[in-house]
Amino acid sequence: MIGVAVFVSGRGSNLEAILNSPKLKKLVIVKAVISDNAECPAFEYAKKNSIDTYNVGKQENFIHYSDLAEFLKSLDIGLIVLAGFLKMIPETVIKNFNNRIINIHPALLPSFGGKGMYGMNVHKAVYNSGAKVSGATVHFIDEAYDEGKIIAQKKVDISDVKFPEQIAERVLKIEHELLPFVIEKFARNQISVKKNRIMLLR
Ligand code: GAR
Repeated sequence: MIGVAVFVSGRGSNLEAILNSPKLKKLVIVKAVISDNAECPAFEYAKKNSIDTYNVGKQENFIHYSDLAEFLKSLDIGLIVLAGFLKMIPETVIKNFNNRIINIHPALLPSFGGKGMYGMNVHKAVYNSGAKVSGATVHFIDEAYDEGKIIAQKKVDISDVKFPEQIAERVLKIEHELLPFVIEKFARNQISVKKNRIMLLR
């Protein structure tokens, strides 16, 4: 079993998808849910599921950003999953967890990524671009936001949508398939990293 820490900031539907995946139950153990917002629904969901929650914000159970790498190591975390976490991850964590931090992004990177591109901002930009296809991307995190190596993507047809919210709905559905799939691949040691290309092994 690989110890997983999930970082969240909002609704927590991806966290829910991870915790409800029957395959992942046999492969990983979510040891910590970490948030910059102790009030977020994702935190509540974690607490209901008896998972330890830690705040990197300003309230109780507070972990200082500079202590995060050591803290995660002390929990024997093998994989960090950013599931809607909106803050930058400290450089010490990125260095200590090389190729062990993954992020889900609600569009097909390298388009529609970068600073300010999160949640509905992404879907509005996709809508305004007139793109006929969108999707979700899971990638490794490195120092440049949304530019880490792409692990897997799944696309969805949006040619008939009338509002950005419809894109959000369709993309979220596939996020809930893609993220558990990539975590499973990681846990089974089926992600091969060669320079900037990643192969998923069977
Ligand atoms: C998800 O759509 C995720 O892709 C997005 O935030 C949402 C979190 O939803 N992440 C980003 O935009 C990161 N750039 P959730 O809290 O219900 O999982």
